[in-house]
Amino acid sequence: MLMPREEALKLVKEHLPNKNLRKHVYAVEAVMRTLARKFSEDEETWGLAGLLHDLDYEDTKDTPDQHTFLTRDLLEKHDGINEEIIHAIQAHADFVERKSLMDKAIYCTDPTTGFLVACALMHPSKQLSAIDIEFIKRRFKEKRFAAGANRDQMAACSEIGLELDDFLMISRDAMVEISKELGL
Ligand SMILES: [Fe+2]
Repeated sequence: MLMPREEALKLVKEHLPNKNLRKHVYAVEAVMRTLARKFSEDEETWGLAGLLHDLDYEDTKDTPDQHTFLTRDLLEKHDGINEEIIHAIQAHADFVERKSLMDKAIYCTDPTTGFLVACALMHPSKQLSAIDIEFIKRRFKEKRFAAGANRDQMAACSEIGLELDDFLMISRDAMVEISKELGL
């Protein structure tokens, strides 16, 4: 049996005291769930990968080469986390080869959520629901805007067969669904 979401949430709250980091993993979870439904994959599995992918982020701030490895060690001590999820978590940071559709999905989703948050914050409305594709595409082309969001990694949505425009709007819509949690 898969780890229940409630239990994964407990781990998130325990390991990610930073509110913005927690919002980030909720956003990645939301997009991953939507993509799982779109591709008729297992929504709970994809959601868990999204929710848990940065569990060791704070603990590996000074040792980035350990990022995802601490998460792997921790999750291996818990029930309900399969090898598929662990592999996707390691794939998001490019530490293992992207093999499954879930690996490829989490890889492009990770920077995209942060990028969309930055877009919403830059919009006068400060609302995710207000940013349209033209606004998002303009920001995408501005290299200095949200420079931490790797554009090539976002464009790797081609690996899951999605055009960038579609992927950006699918991601935005998924995040709008949890706009209350995100505060945007
Ligand atoms: Fe992340």
